Amino acid sequence: MAKAWGGRFQQETDPRVEAFTESISFDSRLYEVDIRGSQAHATMLASVGLITDEERQQICESLDEIRGEIEAGTFAYSASLEDIHMHIESALIARIGDVGRKLHTGRSRNDQVSTDLKLYVRDAIDLLDGLLLDCQRAFVGRCEQDAGVILPGYTHLQRAQPVQAAHYWLAYVEKFQRDRDRLADCRRRVNVCPLGAAALAGTSLPINRQLTAELLGFEAIAANSLDVSSDRDYMAEFVFALSLIAAHLSTWCEEWIIWFSTEFSFLKLPDAYTTGSSIMPQKRNPDVLELIRGKTARVMAAVPQLLILIKSLPMAYNRDLQEDKLALFDAFDTVKACLELTPAIVAGAQLQTDQIASRLEDGFLDATALMEYLIKRGVPMRTGHSTVGKLVALCESAGKRLADLTLEELQDACELIADDVYQVLGTENAMKALQSFGSGGADAVADRVKHWEEAVS
Ligand code: ARG
Repeated sequence: MAKAWGGRFQQETDPRVEAFTESISFDSRLYEVDIRGSQAHATMLASVGLITDEERQQICESLDEIRGEIEAGTFAYSASLEDIHMHIESALIARIGDVGRKLHTGRSRNDQVSTDLKLYVRDAIDLLDGLLLDCQRAFVGRCEQDAGVILPGYTHLQRAQPVQAAHYWLAYVEKFQRDRDRLADCRRRVNVCPLGAAALAGTSLPINRQLTAELLGFEAIAANSLDVSSDRDYMAEFVFALSLIAAHLSTWCEEWIIWFSTEFSFLKLPDAYTTGSSIMPQKRNPDVLELIRGKTARVMAAVPQLLILIKSLPMAYNRDLQEDKLALFDAFDTVKACLELTPAIVAGAQLQTDQIASRLEDGFLDATALMEYLIKRGVPMRTGHSTVGKLVALCESAGKRLADLTLEELQDACELIADDVYQVLGTENAMKALQSFGSGGADAVADRVKHWEEAVS
């Protein structure tokens, strides 16, 4: 097949080179944004008189037909046409000849591919924002369902302080909000139009970059053509944002895998989201959670992959950049698939509240509340810390809980302790004593539940 760039070449391309250099096997998904970009470009070319309005119409209609063929699965792909951009352009020329040969006026594949990728990433951001909102809704939805449930809070996976279950659910809602904010911030830099930078230096033709940018919904136009054709910052930022989403999902999964174990027994997972073992009949495995955790590796790996790809490239476009799509698409597809499954798992899981409650007095979850009780009575914090530490040691050797200690035993440790100490001892009291903004105590959490219920409604 004759190459669009074949003019100065005397030899055919070696088929192994075609196979080695093609990107159609992974960039065909850009067809929709490529056609959108080309139609806007054609409209701009007509507006400045570089093509006639009739030619514009022919180009746009033929591009619509080509899109229809691609979507119907009847479009033929060939490695010899390298990438989606050349496929669409040659299909256009096959249909309308010389008029099709005018479409690439005033642009290069370098600004074209960057425009396509920015449109693709922008759409991806908008889609992910909706999926993250669905996840937030699922987590917020748990707050009412688990109202009044107290969970042991952990640090170092050791029992630390008690919190309302809703506080745990909303912790993820906050993380997803930051993920959404990060995507929105990334979107601002994505939404700057590269089209018109041409190969690297712009063009001597009287193009109107403002118009194409407006037609494609870009907020601004990139001001330096050299910068544009080498710029993949927005993509590195985007996959980093994806990596943090994946990290949040992965830590949630890790937690639930632990909670789902017989040892913890904090959680029941719906059958539809667990799988069995081929040899052990009793098994029910949290495979979906494990795979979300596992797939996170690929998403995170996309960040160094892109950074390494761009780190040594001289200005401006270099063919290395063709490889950017592999990292981008894989990271995006993976996070999208994980986010699509998450809400149903969250909504379908059940806390084993009896199991949780039966062990809630274990692990001295009220020790910090006792220390803060002492502080309120004027004991310096470090002294209070050491006093309670000694009481915990006493309890451990006697097989008791702090609330089991008599007032005399407590007063032996610190004479400022009075009868009202029993109002902070015990896990439920310790949880109720929490009152700072953002804490896991009942009132603070109730306020945040209300806030989030409104925010995601
Ligand atoms: N397939 C290439 C890519 O994805 C398109 C740009 C090619 N540009 C060029 N000057 N050869 O990056």
